[in-house]
Amino acid sequence: MVLAAAGSAVGLGNIWRFPTEVGNNGGAAFILIYLACVIFVGAPVMVSEFVIGRRTHANTITAFRRLAPGTWWSIGGVEGVLVAFIILSYYIVVSGWTLHYTVASFANQLTADHDFQQYFGDFVSHAWWPVVYALVFMLMTHVVVVRGVQGGIERFSKVMMPMLLLIIGVLVVCSFSMSGFREGLEFLLKPDFSKITPSVLLSAVGQAFFSLSLAMGCLCTYASYFGPDTNLVKTAFSVVTIDTVVAVLAGFIIFPAVFSVGVAPNEGAGLVFITLPSVFNIAFGHVPLIGYLFSGLFYVLLLLAALTSAISLHEPVTAYLHEEWHMPRRTAAWCVTIAASVLGVLCSLSMGPLADYPIFGMSLFDFFDFITAKVIMPLGGILICLFVGRRMDEEAVRAEVTNEGRLRIPIFRLYRFLIRWVAPLAIIAIFIRGLL
Ligand code: PHE
Repeated sequence: MVLAAAGSAVGLGNIWRFPTEVGNNGGAAFILIYLACVIFVGAPVMVSEFVIGRRTHANTITAFRRLAPGTWWSIGGVEGVLVAFIILSYYIVVSGWTLHYTVASFANQLTADHDFQQYFGDFVSHAWWPVVYALVFMLMTHVVVVRGVQGGIERFSKVMMPMLLLIIGVLVVCSFSMSGFREGLEFLLKPDFSKITPSVLLSAVGQAFFSLSLAMGCLCTYASYFGPDTNLVKTAFSVVTIDTVVAVLAGFIIFPAVFSVGVAPNEGAGLVFITLPSVFNIAFGHVPLIGYLFSGLFYVLLLLAALTSAISLHEPVTAYLHEEWHMPRRTAAWCVTIAASVLGVLCSLSMGPLADYPIFGMSLFDFFDFITAKVIMPLGGILICLFVGRRMDEEAVRAEVTNEGRLRIPIFRLYRFLIRWVAPLAIIAIFIRGLL
C-alpha cells in the first residue's frame, strides 16, 4: 500500500511541476516554505485522509456520508472527484510531452546540435502532434484502469521506483559536473527571503497538495483498502519522505543545468523539457550509446511514474460514476476517458492554435493548473482538516490512528493540534492573502 500511495504521489508533480514552481518563485526560499508546508500541512492532511478512508472502507463520497450522514460534508468527496477530473485532463498533456520525449530519445533525436528551447516550443505549439501523444497516453491509462490496477502495475512499481531513484541519483552527479553548477546550487540553497510574497506562499501550499496527491479523495480511496494493522502515521511519513526526496533531487538535477544552458529559471512549463536533454548531452556526449540508452530509460521511467499518477486520478472519477451513478465500470471508465480527452485536447491546443483565446488572461492549460492547485485543492484541504479535526469524534480518530489502541503514537496530540489549528489557519490565511 505504501508503494501504491507513493506511486500516486511521485509523478510529474515532482519532476516537472516542482522545478517549474521553484524557478517561478525564486528558488531556495520557496523550497524552505515548501518543506514547511509539507511537514505542517501536507503530512497531517495525508494522515487525515487515511483516517477517513480506513474508518469507512468506502469511496470518498460515501465515506463522508457515512461519517456525517445527512450533512453537506459530502461536498468534500464531490470536490475531490472534480479536481481529479480537471487535473487528469491537463496531466495527460504533460504526460504526452513525456511520451514524445521518450520516443524522440530512442529515435536519437535529442542530440546536442538542437536548440532545445526552440525544439520544445515547436513541439507544444504544433497543431496535432502533442494532441496525438496526449491521446495515446490517455488510452494507456484507460487500459490499465479497465483491466484493474492490482496485479500488474503494483508489482511493477516495486521495480520502477527504486530504478527511478537510482537514475535520478546518477543525474544529480552528472548535473554537478556542469558549468552552471555553482549558480544552480546557490539558487537552490541560498534563500532570498525578500522574494516571499503571499502568492509564493500559495504556490507552495498548492504544490504540496498537488505533489502529495492530497485533497482529492485519491489517498482516501487507497486507504479504504488498508488492513487493520497498517500504521497510518508511518505510512504517511514514508510517502511524504519519498515524494519530497524525489522532488528536491529533481531540483538538484535541473537548476545546475538551467544555469549551464542559459535558460531563465522562470521559463515555465517547458523548463524540464528544455534543460534535461542538455544534461544528457553534456553528461554522455562522449559516449553516445550510453547517453542514448540512459536518456531513453529515464523518460520511460518518468512516463511510468506519470502513468501511476494518472491512474490514481482516473480511478476515483470512474469509481464515482460506477458506484453513485450505477454505470457499468467499463462504461464509466470510457466516459471519463472521453471527457478528459476532449478537455485535454483543448488544453494542449491552448498552447498552440488556440493561444489567441485566453481565459482570464491564461491559457486553458494554465487556468486548469491554477484553479486546481491554487483554489480547489487548498479549499479541499481546509475541509479535510475541519472534518477530521472538529467534526469527527476525537476517540474515533484516536482509535484509527493507533489501530484501536494497539499502537503507541506519541505524536497523536501534536497531530491533533496541527489538524485543528495550524494547518487550517495556515491554509486559510495563505489562501486569502494569496488570491488577493
Ligand atoms: N501527485 C501526482 C504527481 O506528483 C499528481 C496527482 C495529483 C495525482 C493529485 C493524484 C492526485 O504527479
